[in-house]
Amino acid sequence: MMNPPHFDAVTPVYDALSRLVFGRRLEQAQTIWLPQIQDSASVLVLGGGTGALLGPLLDRQPGRLLFLEASRQMLARASLRLIREHLTGQVTFQHGTEQDLTPTDQFDVIILPFVLDVFTESTVRERMLPALLSALRPGGSLLITDFVRTDRRWQRTLLQVMIWFFRLTANIETRRLVNWQSLLSETRLSRAGQRPQVWGMVSAEWWR
Ligand SMILES: C[S@@+](CC[C@H](N)C(=O)[O-])C[C@H]1O[C@@H](n2cnc3c(N)ncnc32)[C@H](O)[C@@H]1O
Repeated sequence: MMNPPHFDAVTPVYDALSRLVFGRRLEQAQTIWLPQIQDSASVLVLGGGTGALLGPLLDRQPGRLLFLEASRQMLARASLRLIREHLTGQVTFQHGTEQDLTPTDQFDVIILPFVLDVFTESTVRERMLPALLSALRPGGSLLITDFVRTDRRWQRTLLQVMIWFFRLTANIETRRLVNWQSLLSETRLSRAGQRPQVWGMVSAEWWR
């Protein structure tokens, strides 16, 4: 793999930019399948950014919640959010990636919120999905919300602008949006639910 992405530099403006372009739609899209999470489930959030998902997630009362983030700045913002928003519940904030998970890290639910989109097909297929599937308990769920390829020209243009913006500012490796749905269909998981979001350019999906 090339150098990993580093979102530290964009952290201060990340949420403002996202809301400028999409309003609260990207945040709302990530909450669609949260009701699938059972009480006391062990949950991993990979690449949760500034932690917009933490409030709705803690409402589900997970037994264990690991927030694993590759950017220290994002991680710091996410942990501050607990105090700022008076959120209650136990969260472990860990700096790292899926490659830092150990064999004892086993989860009922793994959440991937707009994180696959920064990688190439080969990284997702050969590096990320194997590590994540090893950490998913039998019968467990993967909740993925991410951009999908689209035929509408303005959406394709917007996606390319975003990819190039994050290539320049966060060193993301991809040049083209990965077809993550197709890569997931090659795994042992099957899709249990799918909802188009954000004018059809995002899909919120539940795989198990
Ligand atoms: C496009 S941002 C999305 C942030 C947040 N989920 C959101 O929707 O606002 C991708 C995030 O994933 C993090 N990230 C990238 N690769 C990662 C990895 N392999 N493991 C953990 N976090 C990762 C980045 O630091 C960044 O915060």
